[in-house]
Amino acid sequence: MKNIAFIGAGNMNNAIISGLVNNGYSPQHIIVSNPSPEKRIALQQRLGIKQTASNTEAVEFADVIVLGVKPYLMSDVCKDFAQQLDISNKSFISVAAGCPLQHIEQALDQSCTVFRTMPNTPSEVGAGVTGIFANTKASADDKAFAEQLMQSVGIVKWLDREEQIDHIIAVSGSAPAYFFLFMEAMEKQAIEYGFSAEDSRDLVQQTAYGAAKMVIESQLPISKLRENVTSKGGSTHAAICSFQEDNLEETVSKAMNSAIARAKEMAKEG
Ligand SMILES: NC(=O)c1ccc[n+]([C@@H]2O[C@H](COP(=O)([O-])OP(=O)(O)OC[C@H]3O[C@@H](n4cnc5c(N)ncnc54)[C@H](OP(=O)(O)O)[C@@H]3O)[C@@H](O)[C@H]2O)c1
Repeated sequence: MKNIAFIGAGNMNNAIISGLVNNGYSPQHIIVSNPSPEKRIALQQRLGIKQTASNTEAVEFADVIVLGVKPYLMSDVCKDFAQQLDISNKSFISVAAGCPLQHIEQALDQSCTVFRTMPNTPSEVGAGVTGIFANTKASADDKAFAEQLMQSVGIVKWLDREEQIDHIIAVSGSAPAYFFLFMEAMEKQAIEYGFSAEDSRDLVQQTAYGAAKMVIESQLPISKLRENVTSKGGSTHAAICSFQEDNLEETVSKAMNSAIARAKEMAKEG
């Protein structure tokens, strides 16, 4: 069993570690490093993994290292342990948004396997989507392990080109917030109709869950599922026509393109 180090004990690494251990990965083969003690000690107590304040100690222990710090810290964090250790046979998986592979490779300054991934927030409840791109050093075994690791928090989609990470950001990375916004608007309107706050939330969340479950469980195209519940001249039809008159498709496309444009800017800002 490979040893895995998690650099940073924040939300995303917490989700992946929990997913791995809950899926049966031995906690004795997992270490987490974090400067402040609370989160890493809580993880040790909850899951039985190892913990340390030293990134270098964690990287030394591991075959595979998950880099889960904020993008602006990535270079300094990598340079620090890379200057002290031979890391050429180790494999690195970055979950940092907006941090190009080249920046990480330059900071590591040794020829190693590096993956750039883009998970999303539902990873925290095991229902995430992760886009993953590998550098040219990655072997078939490295790829299989990285895929298995990210599958502990959801499904995984391989990318052929790194620029597709920006598209993943628009389609799944930022997208939970689009659905939250839509649900918020519906919840507000339900309250306007006089439902209690609790009932409004129940009505909206159960409907969103039910619709997502139907999409997941059905073999039908999403457009067909919509058509099936939209009788011509009925109330659903009236609501759908209203969305279409207000150019919902164009609004969605514009918003997704804005996410891509901002992701590109952030990558340049480094
Ligand atoms: N959360 C998401 O849904 C999500 C989605 C996609 C991508 N990501 C990416 O995941 C990464 C982490 O995000 P997050 O949401 O998990 O953030 P977070 O909760 O703030 O976690 C970051 C962790 O890094 C620790 N840290 C700070 N300096 C460090 C150092 N020098 N060495 C080791 N650890 C250090 C922080 O510790 P202290 O708290 O003690 O400072 C904190 O526990 C980011 O790059 C983000 O872009 C997150």
